[in-house]
Amino acid sequence: MSGDSILIAAEKNSIPIPILCYHPDLKPHGACRLCLVENEKTGRLMASCVTPAAQDMVIQTASPPGPASSQKYRSSDDGRASGVLHCLQQGQPL
Ligand code: FES
Repeated sequence: MSGDSILIAAEKNSIPIPILCYHPDLKPHGACRLCLVENEKTGRLMASCVTPAAQDMVIQTASPPGPASSQKYRSSDDGRASGVLHCLQQGQPL
């Protein structure tokens, strides 16, 4: 687990996290924000594909939407990732 991102650590433990821009053969750059997870201690949202996993880290991968997390999400991404997700759900080409 040392050096693994949160995404890889989750995959190794069969915990699914949705991804879009991540590819195992490319250097992760955290652009789409589809893999956002929440640090349970700080409440901070972070891209799991570029954030290193750490000992004793508590991560929420499926927190319910709410006013606090929605505000953090909007302020960090301007809603662009949710627009991408909407396109995928509607079967629209990106
Ligand atoms: S998969 Fe795109 S930011 Fe992580």
